Amino acid sequence: MAAERATGSRRDFLRNVGVAGGAGMLYSAMGALGIAPVPEAGAAEYRAPRASDFSLSGRSAKKVLVLGAGIAGLATAYELGKAGYDCRILEAADRPGGRNWTVRGGTTLTDLDGRKQTASFTKGQYMNAGPARLPQSHVTLEYCRELGVPVEVFTNQNANAYIHHENSAALAGKPVRWRTAKADVHGYVSELLAKATDQGALDAELTAADKERLIAFLQNFGAIKGKADGYAYTGTDRRGYAVEPGAAFEEGTVLGPVPTLSDVLASGVGQRFAFELGYDQAMLMFQPVGGMDAIPRALAEAVGRGRITYGAEVSEVKDLPAGAEVTYKDPRGRTRTAHADFVVAAMPPMVMARIKHNLGANVTAALKYPAATPVGKIGLEYRSRWWETDEHIYGGITPTDTDLGTVWYPSYGHLGRRGTLIGYYNFGANALAYSALPHEERLKRALSRGVRIHGDKYRTELDHSFSVAWHRTPHIEGGWVSWPSQSGPEYKLLNQPAGHVHFAGDWLSHVIAWQHGAFTSARKVATDIHQKVMAA
Ligand code: PHE
Repeated sequence: MAAERATGSRRDFLRNVGVAGGAGMLYSAMGALGIAPVPEAGAAEYRAPRASDFSLSGRSAKKVLVLGAGIAGLATAYELGKAGYDCRILEAADRPGGRNWTVRGGTTLTDLDGRKQTASFTKGQYMNAGPARLPQSHVTLEYCRELGVPVEVFTNQNANAYIHHENSAALAGKPVRWRTAKADVHGYVSELLAKATDQGALDAELTAADKERLIAFLQNFGAIKGKADGYAYTGTDRRGYAVEPGAAFEEGTVLGPVPTLSDVLASGVGQRFAFELGYDQAMLMFQPVGGMDAIPRALAEAVGRGRITYGAEVSEVKDLPAGAEVTYKDPRGRTRTAHADFVVAAMPPMVMARIKHNLGANVTAALKYPAATPVGKIGLEYRSRWWETDEHIYGGITPTDTDLGTVWYPSYGHLGRRGTLIGYYNFGANALAYSALPHEERLKRALSRGVRIHGDKYRTELDHSFSVAWHRTPHIEGGWVSWPSQSGPEYKLLNQPAGHVHFAGDWLSHVIAWQHGAFTSARKVATDIHQKVMAA
């Protein structure tokens, strides 16, 4: 209510400023009041540039050339387009999205080694080769709302999925369900802490009332026995059932035997639980219906198809006294030069680092400073959804201690006939190991690990497969980057324009490897450019 009243008087104030000082002053007064973009404004206060910002200002929207039709490039053009900026995008690939890429039947990939794959997935089956899960806090969901991209729940954590630590002698190579691992870890830790509390080991930290309440919590948290039974953890139905309870006299048989405390600790399963507590990874999560690429497709549509040139490879960027110039090879192989008031380089830093420019040696050095992370994924289409029918796993992820990294069960098409798993999603050394191999060898290796989790059907039910190694993918060359430091001069330098050339991407955010980082970086650059135009 107070805010509403303030708005009224604020509007009067702004009208008076506008009359007395013209729109330029009006605009900076709006900035001071926090209702127009100012450089200090955080993502939370983002205000898109508007065509009406120009009325009575004597200024007009400028020409902007965006390099790269990934999320950052598309979003920059989309946001500036709201105020009527004349944005064009040059994209080296033949599609929008960059790493936001959904592979379906017919999709092709020729990697940097010249190895070509064509996906033969059945109609309706797909894999999100890049981003695949959206946290509730991310602005990506706001864009889905704004663009009309329908979303559905993505199951990131599933009590029925496994933890597969095959190198743990304590588990004898067998996968354990998350629910079972949790019951045992929570149970034993609760038992130990309840005993220690009861025996006075924590008397220096706890009052008598604290102790009582802590034990009450532990009995609930770990499902342990009472004082008379020494607060023992002996296993409960939280572990799951060997025989499910059912009708009449079927009480069910709780899954056993319960491993010893020592074996539970040795298995290392407890160290997996932090995953689902991570700010970015916690349930609930979302995915666009039908594939992640619904986002770039909607953005490209909103920007305007005619504004994006695919198959355009940039070879030089030149900052000029007024504006900037970009040289590129058009889809027909002809060299062309384009001029604009601003250029936004929205491509991976390691790719931009190799493009000729006159922005200074420190810009090149800064672009080379973040290191590309190798990342790989394989999609496996099966003739049946055996993980659902035989193992009752409907979505979620099995982490492993093998070079697979993680195995993902699809969060779409439940109860259907076919389904497509992610057979590995891995980074670093594991991603390098797989990418060194041609696809058929990657597949063989992934299947040999997978059968150890799921048995023979992992091989026998397989129909089609497709793998991507992002660090070996043209124009992309990495899953994401990591900065040795984001507080040093390199990061600062690239978060500022070099003359009329601005940089954008998730790599220029503190939300690297998420579309949220790309969107917020695009908003920042759109704000910077609009601010500069309005202040000129
Ligand atoms: N966003 C990617 C994912 O969820 C990469 C990532 C992994 C980012 C882990 C942060 C932490 O898989």
